[in-house]
Amino acid sequence: MLILGVDIGGSGIKGAIVDTVTGELVTERYRIVTPQPATPTAVAEALLQLTTYFNWNGLVGCGFPAAIQHGIVRTAANIAPSFIGTQLDTLFSDATQCRCYCVNDADAAGIAEMTFGEGRGHQGVVLLVTIGTGLGTVLFSEGKLLPNTELGHLYLKNGKTAERYAADSVRKLKHLSWRQWGKRFNTYLAQMEALFWPDLIILGGGASKKFSKYQEQLTVAAVVKPAVFLNQAGIVGAALYARSKNTEA
Ligand code: BGC
Repeated sequence: MLILGVDIGGSGIKGAIVDTVTGELVTERYRIVTPQPATPTAVAEALLQLTTYFNWNGLVGCGFPAAIQHGIVRTAANIAPSFIGTQLDTLFSDATQCRCYCVNDADAAGIAEMTFGEGRGHQGVVLLVTIGTGLGTVLFSEGKLLPNTELGHLYLKNGKTAERYAADSVRKLKHLSWRQWGKRFNTYLAQMEALFWPDLIILGGGASKKFSKYQEQLTVAAVVKPAVFLNQAGIVGAALYARSKNTEA
């Protein structure tokens, strides 16, 4: 079953048509720069650009960088605060005339990795962290997802949240070397390990592609692996999410 998977991020909105049976992208990824300010209307218009580009009128799954409870946006760390309280499924479905289902972006990445990637068949506690503009997290136990964990907002160091200390955007902003950033990120993973004791930690998002550059700084006992889908996990997982919601409907 083909579904348009979209990953809405702080800097880019990326989409591709996904074969949800195999987890493969059947088209190239297409990327639009996230409009600034990223208001609900502006992002909905960008999504319409994407569905128009793909000449798409089928199901759409959208990974979105916020806690989303029953389709409603609850937080806004890296998006316009006016998103809070928005019924995203309705906004995007109306704007694109396609049935859209929205899910937290890290949850989407986790769904992809647990279905087709590094976490496939894993029955233990799995933590996936997406490293990008923000730090997104998702937890699984016995393959079941606990939605909307916002553990990138945990207070970590000098009164800063983990996201403000160790996101990839901080590495870029402060011109940290991969080694310097890796040490920061390790502080975060150590805290996650002390609180949740994951058996497996999967890293997604942009920085997952550079895993070998900071792997040596990671000292946690859990097995740490880059996502099989690297930073495409969000697109694939969003499509899988839409498929599951559409079956429920
Ligand atoms: C948001 C999360 C999101 C993460 C990654 C955080 O700032 O609060 O909902 O998953 O960024 O985009």
